[in-house]
Amino acid sequence: MAKEHVSGHAKIETSNFLMIVLILLTVSVGGLVEIVPLFFQKSTTQPIEGLVPYTALQLSGRDVYRREGCYNCHSQMIRPFRAEALRYGPYSVAGEFVYDHPFQWSSKRTGPDLARVGGRYSDEWHRIHLINPRDVVPESNMPAYPWLATTPANAGVIQAHMKGMHTLGVPYTEEEIANAPEELNGKTELDALISYLQVLGIHRK
Ligand code: HEC
Repeated sequence: MAKEHVSGHAKIETSNFLMIVLILLTVSVGGLVEIVPLFFQKSTTQPIEGLVPYTALQLSGRDVYRREGCYNCHSQMIRPFRAEALRYGPYSVAGEFVYDHPFQWSSKRTGPDLARVGGRYSDEWHRIHLINPRDVVPESNMPAYPWLATTPANAGVIQAHMKGMHTLGVPYTEEEIANAPEELNGKTELDALISYLQVLGIHRK
């Protein structure tokens, strides 16, 4: 009986080991081809026109946002769909987030997207809303954050934080870093958080 010829393909299909290794190789090459160019594309790495880094107070507010887990209920990314743009405003672009480390895009929307909430309400509205959401939105199920109004903004870590951001490419000047604790002087975490919310999404024209 003539020996059956085993093709290369059959060899791969009948060997778990070869199959796994070659699939991993194919997926990695495919993935890299998609991902790597994004690191070099201007539209994903360059700030949009007019984007400025967060001030010390806003950055400090952003820390409060992260600590309190606001991202568990709020996204900060408007997707390019008509319904989203009608509700929230122009869809988000990568260049808006080049100074955000880490991003707060999130995906869960128990509450509305906050990508363009900056300037939509007065500081006073936010103050009342964060201390007790039910005072301005009776049906709200957002938690209340009353302690933010009585906790001083954390001036002790702000310089180290800004220096860290600087190594990640955020163009803070030495002067801005030197003046940071002064900027937080007398401010509460609530002031900081509100100043952060008020700049969200205001740079995209
Ligand atoms: C358990 C989910 C939940 C968490 C956590 C949460 N929120 Fe909300 N948020 C909501 C819901 C629901 C609404 C809509 C009702 C309202 O306005 O209160 C809302 C509304 C808002 C609005 C008004 C948005 C708009 O366009 O009208 C802002 C601003 C906001 N939240 C900020 C925050 C911040 C800052 C934090 C963290 C300190 C936070 N939220 C934490 C659920 C949440």
